[in-house]
Amino acid sequence: MKIKKVHAREIYDSRGWPTVQCEVWLDDGSVFSGYAPAGLSTSSYEAHELRDGDSRLWGKGVMRAVENINQLVCPVLVGKEPVATDLDYILITLDGTPDKSHLGSNAMIATSMALYRAYAHDQGIELYELIAFLMGAQSVTIPCPLFNIINGGRHAENKLIVQEFMIAPLSAGTLREGIEFAVTLFHEIKRILRQQGIFFGIGDEGGITAPFDDPRTALDVMMQAIDKVGADPEAGAGAIALDVAATQFYDSAQKRYIVDGNPLTSDELIVFYKELIKTYPIYSIEDGMAEDDWDGWVSMYESLSDEVQLAADDILATNPARLVQIAERNCATAMVIKPNQIGTVTETLELMNICKSNNLNTIVSHRSGETEDSFIADFAVGTSSGQLKAGGVCRSERLAKYNRLLAIEDILLVTGSRYGGDD
Ligand code: PGA
Ligand code: ZN
Repeated sequence: MKIKKVHAREIYDSRGWPTVQCEVWLDDGSVFSGYAPAGLSTSSYEAHELRDGDSRLWGKGVMRAVENINQLVCPVLVGKEPVATDLDYILITLDGTPDKSHLGSNAMIATSMALYRAYAHDQGIELYELIAFLMGAQSVTIPCPLFNIINGGRHAENKLIVQEFMIAPLSAGTLREGIEFAVTLFHEIKRILRQQGIFFGIGDEGGITAPFDDPRTALDVMMQAIDKVGADPEAGAGAIALDVAATQFYDSAQKRYIVDGNPLTSDELIVFYKELIKTYPIYSIEDGMAEDDWDGWVSMYESLSDEVQLAADDILATNPARLVQIAERNCATAMVIKPNQIGTVTETLELMNICKSNNLNTIVSHRSGETEDSFIADFAVGTSSGQLKAGGVCRSERLAKYNRLLAIEDILLVTGSRYGGDD
């Protein structure tokens, strides 16, 4: 099969901002899409997302990225077989910059995802099977989802310094069971807030937003709901994961974290985390320190790594050079993997391989600006990522990923698959 056409258009994401959709047309008449997600609390080390920067839509248009696909990428890919692993390297060469700023990481990731779908079709297999094959895996596992329950920080525009309060059904026997638990908890929290007369809404990632200003208030509400549904966090049901996204409140000139107007040292912030861990069933803290606060990360690892998973997002930015630095300093235990931070699926797969060979946990992740694309669900299964962060249990751009996982779980459990079972 050969590529007949590559065509992009500007579409809109879950926040109502423009983003890139790329279609890859094959000569058998099939068409495959990839959609670029977009972060808000982004790392400075991510590949460059190309926005128009003109007067339309506050400069957030992506017509330059769209035109790059239609005018530069399309002529190069037409006539080629959809071997995405090779074609990603053609894209990288065509871009020719270290940060993907020529084509734009949004143009590249949308194209790369569409190419992977076309490649899977060409091979007559599911997308997650292709990814597993490329990882050299004999079997796959469904990841444990980290469901976003309460949104804070920049995703909620309230005073909570913690950006994401998540629940991980670590002990659930199946994904279906885990989702049901998260859904029950979500509706239970809404009931509790209604009863307490607290006004609430839904944040960017499908979690609840409420006028909380202390993380302990949000955690207390979660604990009330966990108690109400009769879950036992000690037994792994309802383990809590936090994404602090500490870069967002770090003053790099002062080297202080500004919490409620008070400048805290990294050690003071670690003491705060220790208190939280003592009081609540927290099993994971993401970005507890800022992306450039290496000393803070090392101290946090020394103090907390025996108690919780320490996940690196902004500090890593899905970047292999940053991964080497993290490994050298040994300051995190899990890597948050976001394909659009590096710009191609192939490079993301390579990073997953490095994480696996270094026994680092991985959390495949969505972005706060998302679309109906469920690519990361297949990616997390195909790489047996262990964990997947795809937002809350409402808003379809989040459920698209969880619903795809449910379908994959059915393929693996019900109909069987050469990647399922215990072979
Ligand atoms: P972002 O946030 O997609 O807005 O960068 C997600 C995260 O920090 O994990
Ligand atoms: Zn994060």
